[in-house]
Amino acid sequence: MSNKSTALIVGASRGLGLALAEEYCIRGWQVIATSRGSSQGLEKLQGSFGASLEVEQVDIVDLDSAKGLRQRLDARELDVLFVNAGICKANELNALQVEEKDYLDMLLTNALSPMRLIELFYDRLNAKGVAAVMSSELGSITDAKGFWELYSSSKAALNMLMKHFHSRHVDDTRALLAIAPGWVRTDMGTDNALLDISESIPLVVDVVARNAGVPGLRFTDRHGNELPW
Ligand SMILES: NC(=O)c1ccc[n+]([C@@H]2O[C@H](COP(=O)([O-])OP(=O)(O)OC[C@H]3O[C@@H](n4cnc5c(N)ncnc54)[C@H](OP(=O)(O)O)[C@@H]3O)[C@@H](O)[C@H]2O)c1
Repeated sequence: MSNKSTALIVGASRGLGLALAEEYCIRGWQVIATSRGSSQGLEKLQGSFGASLEVEQVDIVDLDSAKGLRQRLDARELDVLFVNAGICKANELNALQVEEKDYLDMLLTNALSPMRLIELFYDRLNAKGVAAVMSSELGSITDAKGFWELYSSSKAALNMLMKHFHSRHVDDTRALLAIAPGWVRTDMGTDNALLDISESIPLVVDVVARNAGVPGLRFTDRHGNELPW
């Protein structure tokens, strides 16, 4: 285990997170994948990859749960920290129509909680490590076109928090990424999405790999093209 690069994937029970865990396993990494309940997908992966895949439990909106994970992994050094977990509620509604709780849940899950994970685990990343969050093309304020507006604003908030985090670590050697995976067919992306998971996640992992050892913050798509904030 000690010679392998290690990735911590937060929110890996299904969808893009599960695919990230699988892709890193396929590439020979040691993977710590989190879920917040049982995950048939992760159980199946463990069947294929054995001890190379460790499964941890965390609910990212529960700060004590996040701190507990940090404590359990206190002795670990990470090459990649990828916070993938996210939700989409009331995607077709506007500010007047949405239930307040649904909007607050999105802000908590998609913006505040991922940044808490980045804050908590940043010192576990090695000097050439990459801290990535799963953002979205929809998180770009410049490119916003009135699609899934409330969800988009939660990803814009995530991007803004990454900007401020970077400002506090501007001389650091580690890379920070807000990655947009494209519109992908998952429970969240729906069957209408343009891409299969296999057309997104291997490219996302390539982008992370190319950014190792390249200091600074970038908002990038799955091809490594920088996106307008
Ligand atoms: N699919 C797309 O087209 C697309 C495009 C751009 C960005 N994204 C982003 O990519 C990420 C993954 O999306 P997806 O399409 O794979 O969605 P998904 O299939 O709905 O999966 C969401 C994942 O997030 C986890 N999660 C949600 N809330 C959590 C919490 N409080 N604590 C821990 N884990 C939590 C879920 O765990 P449970 O199984 O426990 O619910 C699940 O593993 C999200 O951040 C999403 O916003 C997706």
